[in-house]
Amino acid sequence: MSGVTVRVPAKVNVQLAVGAARPDGFHDLASVFLAVSLYDEVTATPADTLTITCEGPDADRVPLDRGNLAARAAELLAARHGLSPDVHLHIAKAIPVAGGMAGGSADGAGALLACDALWGLGTPREELLELCAELGSDVPFSLVGGAALGVGRGERLTPLPVAGPFHWVFAVADGGLSTPAVYGEFDRLAEGVEIPEPVASPALLDALASGDTTALAAALVNDLQPAALSLRPSLAATLAAGTEAGALAALVSGSGPTTAFLVKDAESAEAVAAALTASGTCRATRPATSPAPGATLL
Ligand code: C5P
Repeated sequence: MSGVTVRVPAKVNVQLAVGAARPDGFHDLASVFLAVSLYDEVTATPADTLTITCEGPDADRVPLDRGNLAARAAELLAARHGLSPDVHLHIAKAIPVAGGMAGGSADGAGALLACDALWGLGTPREELLELCAELGSDVPFSLVGGAALGVGRGERLTPLPVAGPFHWVFAVADGGLSTPAVYGEFDRLAEGVEIPEPVASPALLDALASGDTTALAAALVNDLQPAALSLRPSLAATLAAGTEAGALAALVSGSGPTTAFLVKDAESAEAVAAALTASGTCRATRPATSPAPGATLL
C-alpha cells in the first residue's frame, strides 16, 4: 500500500506577547502566528511497528525515537481509536530544527493528519485540534496555517484575516535553542518586574489584514527576543546585518535562534539574503512568503 504525504508550513510570530509564568510553568500568551512558505513533508506508510526516518540538511539533529512529536502524534491518534501505531513516518525536513519556527510542531500536525488519512479514521477537525493541543502549544497552528491569534499557552486559536503577500528572509543560526531554556531566561530577566497581561496589538492586526508591509514592520514585536539574545548574544550581529542590508524590520523568530527579516518584495529578499550570507553571521538563509496554508494532504 502506498503512503500518504502531508505538507506543513513553518511559522513566525509577528507578535509574541508573553505574560508572567503560571503555576503550571507555562506562560499566558498573545501570540500572533503567521504561516510562511517553508515546509516539512511527512509521509505515513503501513509498517510492522512505529519507525521514523528523516532527510534534509539538519536530519542528523532530528530525534528518531518516541521523543519526536510525529511519533507522539501517531501514538496519540492510535490510542484514541484503540489501534496499534504501526506506521512508518518519513520526514522531509526543510524547517530549521529547534529554530523557533515550529518545525517539530509541524511534524506533529503532519503525522496526525497523515495517519488519520492512512488509517481512514476521518477524525473531525475539532478533535484533531484538541489532539494537536495535547502534543504542544504550537501544534494547532501548524494544522490551521494562515494567520491566527493564539491565547492561553498559544494553543487556543482564533483565525485572523490576512492579506499579503509578505516577503521574508530567515537566517538559520548554528545549532538550536531550547524553548524551555528561553522561557526560563525570560523569567530570570523578568524577576522583580511587573509583567502586563499579554494582548494583541490592534495596529499589528490591521497591518496583517490590509497587507501593509510597512505597518507590519513597525508593529513586529517578540517579548522572548531579549531572552534569546541573552542566551545567544551573537544573534545581535545577524539582526544588524539584515537591517543594514535594507530589511524593513528584523526580529528573533519565536524562541529563536532563527532570525526573521521582513522585506519589501522578492527582489529585496534576494539582496538581504545575499548580504546576510556575506556577513558570515548565519549558517544559511531562506527566503519565504506569507501567508501559507496549514497542513495539507498532497
Ligand atoms: O507546549 P510546548 O511543549 O511546545 O512547550 C515547550 C516548553 O516551552 C514548555 O515546557 C514551557 O517550558 C515553555 N512554554 C511556556 N509557555 C508557553 C509555551 C511554552 O513556558 N505558552
